[in-house]
Amino acid sequence: MTGQGALSRGGGPLIEVRGLRVDYGLGPDAVHAVIDAGLTLVSGSVLGLAGESGSGKSTLAYAMTRLLRAPGIITGGQVLLHGGTGPPGEPAAQPGAEPAAQGAEAAAQGAEPAAQAGVIDLMTADERQLRELRWSRIAVVMQSAMHALNPVVTIGAQLTDVLEAHRLRMDRTERRQRAVFLLEMVGISADNLRRYPHQLSGGMRQRVMIAMALALEPAVVIMDEPTTALDVVTQREILTELAALQRDLAFAVLFITHDLSLLVELADSIAVMYAGRLLEHAAASDLYRAPRHPYTLGLLRSFPPLHGPRKPLTGIPGSPPDLRTPPPGCPFHPRCGFAMDVCRTEVPAAIQLRDPGNGRSAACWLHDGTREVPAELAVPEPGTPSPGAAMEAGTGTETGTRPGAGTGAGAGTEAGAETEAGAAAKLAAPPEPAAGTAPVTRQLTAAAQLGEPAAAQDATGTMR
Ligand SMILES: Nc1ncnc2c1ncn2[C@@H]1O[C@H](COP(=O)(O)OP(=O)(O)O)[C@@H](O)[C@H]1O
Ligand code: SF4
Ligand SMILES: [Mg+2]
Repeated sequence: MTGQGALSRGGGPLIEVRGLRVDYGLGPDAVHAVIDAGLTLVSGSVLGLAGESGSGKSTLAYAMTRLLRAPGIITGGQVLLHGGTGPPGEPAAQPGAEPAAQGAEAAAQGAEPAAQAGVIDLMTADERQLRELRWSRIAVVMQSAMHALNPVVTIGAQLTDVLEAHRLRMDRTERRQRAVFLLEMVGISADNLRRYPHQLSGGMRQRVMIAMALALEPAVVIMDEPTTALDVVTQREILTELAALQRDLAFAVLFITHDLSLLVELADSIAVMYAGRLLEHAAASDLYRAPRHPYTLGLLRSFPPLHGPRKPLTGIPGSPPDLRTPPPGCPFHPRCGFAMDVCRTEVPAAIQLRDPGNGRSAACWLHDGTREVPAELAVPEPGTPSPGAAMEAGTGTETGTRPGAGTGAGAGTEAGAETEAGAAAKLAAPPEPAAGTAPVTRQLTAAAQLGEPAAAQDATGTMR
């Protein structure tokens, strides 16, 4: 289920989600928020997860990391974490415990330290294993991360707290140096260490959260709508910086957003989620060039890209279903312009598509091999404009920052667009740094240094 772009840029599988199911509540009133989800995140690659609000994206992220809270219940599936790339952490240690003693305890329990564990199923991992893995192997920046900083503690203290808790052998000076380094890495100058969160802009606070997530050099960072609350200029700045850091440090990212256009530029591969199900998965450029699922096509027609000429968007009619009573058959059928009789009664399974050169899938009856695929959802002939490009290119000549960011699917917003090649290209030209931020060259130098083996590192397992 992973696009070629991701495979060529990354390594082997890092996280494999298999048949994951999550409900909220029990019995007939249960909300089926994630249904048989299957995904592979490749080491060093960016996997985008897109879908309208209420599709189950955050629930999937919480469940994968075992951070799901009641009334959420994981009712089935596996989430396999492989050794992955990047420097492994030291064996976990409890605060105040000697690392050697902790290692002996782990050995006595017959358990390997997480970094040496090979493959572990996070769904059956115990609390001690999960504590070892969080932050040091898997870092999470959740949807409300901007408000996750403690308002009465300085930025510097919050960064050094993470290091103090997880890297027991670092002394105070080393922790401060590391905090400066992490802050500069995300483009914030060191004099901000003494400032409180309310003294920083929203974009700077989000950069601090990203610095914290990268503090222990995790193999994967899961980001749930990390830029949704920011203005489009700041959003673009942060995504540009994130893309540069990700390329330099080669950590994997699961980037969750309702805005598919962000992923087209940032991700190697994209999975599209709707009503708790993954409906399409493809390399990002393929998905943009030739969406094969009607829902993906609708999403592409709902969000403006980050820049380019303006053009009206068509969106998707209707709204997502109540997941307590999802429609029978294909969950998208009440909103789908291509719906057939079979769609109203039978749930389509994910069908592996035989597009040239790419492993991709779509859960749609149109692709079961017995029907003529509508032109919008067929693979275009070489040189034919993509549905996305055709929709956006139009005759418009006006360029600029997209005006309709954050509008939901279905909104008939005036929007920006760009050429297919431009959309498929990765974010390249970093914008001017905002006030209080460090020059980009400095960030990149700092980013390169992060790859250096750090001083002694330990994980207390405390999730902060
Ligand atoms: N705590 C909860 N209790 C009951 N239902 C919930 C809860 N959290 C989320 N849901 C439901 O689960 C579904 C998926 O939600 P969510 O994972 O937040 O979607 P997304 O992140 O794609 O917006 C939605 O229908 C939502 O109403
Ligand atoms: S299965 Fe049918 S209703 Fe569902 S997306 Fe495909 S054509 Fe539309
Ligand atoms: Mg969400």
